[in-house]
Amino acid sequence: MRTSLTSIIKDPSLAPEGKLKIDWAQAHMPVLNSIREQFEREQPFKGLRVAISLHLEAKTAYLAKVVQAGGAEVAITGSNPLSTQDDVCAALAEDGIAVYAKYNPSAEEYHDLLVKTVETKPDLIIDDGGDLVTILHTERRDLLPNVRGGAEETTTGILRLKAMDKEGSLNFPMVAVNDAYCKYLFDNRYGTGQSVWDGINRTTNLIVAGKTVVVNGYGWCGKGVAMRAKGLGANVVVTEVDAIKAVEAYMDGFTVLSMADAAERGDFFVTVTGNRDVITGAHIAKMKDGAILSNAGHFDVEVNLVELEAMSSSKRTVRRNIEEYLLKDGRRIYVLAEGRLVNLAAGDGHPAEIMDMTFALQALSLRYVNENYAAIGNRVVNVPYELDEQVARTKLASLGITIDSLSEQQRTYLASWAAH
Ligand code: ADE
Repeated sequence: MRTSLTSIIKDPSLAPEGKLKIDWAQAHMPVLNSIREQFEREQPFKGLRVAISLHLEAKTAYLAKVVQAGGAEVAITGSNPLSTQDDVCAALAEDGIAVYAKYNPSAEEYHDLLVKTVETKPDLIIDDGGDLVTILHTERRDLLPNVRGGAEETTTGILRLKAMDKEGSLNFPMVAVNDAYCKYLFDNRYGTGQSVWDGINRTTNLIVAGKTVVVNGYGWCGKGVAMRAKGLGANVVVTEVDAIKAVEAYMDGFTVLSMADAAERGDFFVTVTGNRDVITGAHIAKMKDGAILSNAGHFDVEVNLVELEAMSSSKRTVRRNIEEYLLKDGRRIYVLAEGRLVNLAAGDGHPAEIMDMTFALQALSLRYVNENYAAIGNRVVNVPYELDEQVARTKLASLGITIDSLSEQQRTYLASWAAH
């Protein structure tokens, strides 16, 4: 359903370029295409308002259009000030979606755009990092009663939601899309693995082979970043705080060090922990001249830029998305994309075929929460396994891959406990 609301975007004349980007993404998202066809027939969101906060690039735009095709009136904003693409916003606004987003707004403007989005009085939300949920539960609590529920995209958002759930302060159900198999196994690992190196490579235009890459964090995203760094020919060092993940990184063939020891070795650093102060002034004090720092965690808190700034005598932009900090001792440290998600702020995010599965889960989860919100209650819940499996099966079909199924005897064998 087209909205009558007026979008707030940078430049409507960019729409043709944005439309081409969305068309390209759509052509590589077969699972979402099949859901779109289903939604067009069944209209699961007829008459409902849906508010979305996601990294506003072409694949996200297509998800918004799929939700709209399901009968919803859609409002959308970004989920990071540097990941919004203005041409994509213009194309979406032309398609009757209320877009409240611009590339690189001030902190205040970014916040106002988020608030504007929740002020559309949504019945359902899609969040990435928890900003819509936080605004609804703080400054716009008056809008809470209208919200049936929603779906959250990322690890960071789910951490925030689980803290709210534990405290009993969550006012509607949220589906943890990140925790579905068809999300983290592919998006976090292969998506982040490829898009982070795409962002770093296109931004720096430097060789990775032969260099030392320090990957901070060995969750699913860190595993992907380390695996692809190895593929590019880097010597890979992993730092971890979790003993089990540290052993896993070691057995996967990586050098595992404390950050205090890794600091002096790295040519490239990629933080992927979801935590703050992973790289501090004390680490920077030990780094090589020319070390390149980047972040792939949701918030720009993993590299302590305040401490870096305090150690520097000057700072300048040396290339698009590269800031050079000249330290007082003469060394230079480079920070990509202001320490924000390097794959989105200095790239286009994950490949379309990956976001196909993630956004298929988002679309199906939104439908699930809309149809079951009363029964679920005000909790964080997992994506039902059947939906996860549906996404995998549709993906396989789109790839032309046939798999085997269990025979009756095999099923019986697996279900029995007596002598095997
Ligand atoms: N594109 C849209 N949302 C994204 C995300 N969370 N990660 C990577 N690419 C994306």
